[in-house]
Amino acid sequence: MGRYEIKGGKPLNGTVTISGAKNAAVAILPAALLVNGCCRIENVPDISDVRILLAILEDMGVKIQRPDESTVILDNSGFTGKSPNEELVRKLRASYYLMGALLGRFGKAFVALPGGCNFASRPIDQHIKGFAALGADVVETEDYVSMTPGPNGLRGNRISLDVVSVGATVNIMIAATLLPGQTVIENAAKEPHIVDLANFLNTMGAHISGAGTDTVKIRGVDALRGGTYAIIPDQIEAGTYMAAAVATGGNVLIKNVIPKHMECITSKLAEMGAEVINYDDAIRIKRPGPLRHTTVKTHPYPGFPTDMQAQICVCMALASGVSRLTESVYETRFFGYCSELESMGADIQITGKTAIITGTDTLYGATVSAHDLRAGAALVIAGLAAEGTTWVKNIHYVERGYERIIEKLAALGATIRRVED
Ligand code: EPZ
Repeated sequence: MGRYEIKGGKPLNGTVTISGAKNAAVAILPAALLVNGCCRIENVPDISDVRILLAILEDMGVKIQRPDESTVILDNSGFTGKSPNEELVRKLRASYYLMGALLGRFGKAFVALPGGCNFASRPIDQHIKGFAALGADVVETEDYVSMTPGPNGLRGNRISLDVVSVGATVNIMIAATLLPGQTVIENAAKEPHIVDLANFLNTMGAHISGAGTDTVKIRGVDALRGGTYAIIPDQIEAGTYMAAAVATGGNVLIKNVIPKHMECITSKLAEMGAEVINYDDAIRIKRPGPLRHTTVKTHPYPGFPTDMQAQICVCMALASGVSRLTESVYETRFFGYCSELESMGADIQITGKTAIITGTDTLYGATVSAHDLRAGAALVIAGLAAEGTTWVKNIHYVERGYERIIEKLAALGATIRRVED
């Protein structure tokens, strides 16, 4: 266990290069199990969620090479469908994508229920609904999900999701890729990482269309060949550094981004007074003057992402006037960080799904604890902006999703170091 020591109050200035998207990588790596051969996957972020997932795949019999820190070569030719290690599976949420991969490739699966950030109740009923619609007999206990082919076998089907779910959309896409017939996912999630997964699978020989819309069509193929694919940049990591630049009053060039993926985040920060310049694959963001209050409602893509709720809250805490932040995806997400921010001087009143944030000129360093990945990132931003020293505890949450965060922040002028507890 470790903590960050942050000496705040300094604007961030300079350049930061964004890594591969965590939520794309943790979908694409399990999906690669569908390939009976070799996949070379580039721009993979070196974060603990990815390292755990690779350990799971290796334990399952996948041969893994890492020619450099952001490239993974997976050889599945000897993979026989061994179930994933339960203890490792419980360390992250995305391990549940192995359910779709094993069902899709071998027609059966036995996977422990996932772990991951517990900022809300995170059911998987829509995943199960999808697998059952594809013809699987699904047994779900408190500990695991077990699937075998039903009496009519496995084949494509039409599935209408009751709620827009990234995870269910991903899992059904993976499960359906090698099944006979066509699968149509209605009310599908449209996040960039859904499109990235479809592009990866199509590069390996799948027939997926409509990714990025609310209707995804998968025409099953007999097999996938190997190939090479580069993962998209992480729009949430990019948004996090943008929020840090704004909160500290800095001037930062964010490189290796897809500006279109950032539009909702960029426009909100501009509303608050940030100056934003979009380039082909970079964004410059600076804060020329005081921050203005604003209103944000989180929403599935292309709306303002729930994964940026905590980070924008810190900017609101430093803006003039009263801001309103409404959460529409995970109602209890505020409780992962708001009381910690209040201990730094923030004024936040939570009523139901909405936080009312009355801005203040200054936050003050304190000892705070991360309770999930994005809450931890927000506390780092608050420490960077605050006067004095901030200690952020439980930083293993932060290191699940932010590659080389200390080096990247130090290169922007931050005084931050990691201290073992
Ligand atoms: C993914 O989680 C992301 N994780 C989350 O990012 C992100 O917050 C979330 O999507 C929303 O964008 C990964 O991609 C690994 P959902 P996921 O299924 O798939 C309900 C981060 O910080 N729901 O889209 O679990 C659910 O309760 C993490 O990187 C059901 O009711 O999210 C929620 O209210 C945190 N039944 C809503 O749907 C289901 O079967 C959206 O959840 C599935 C979901």
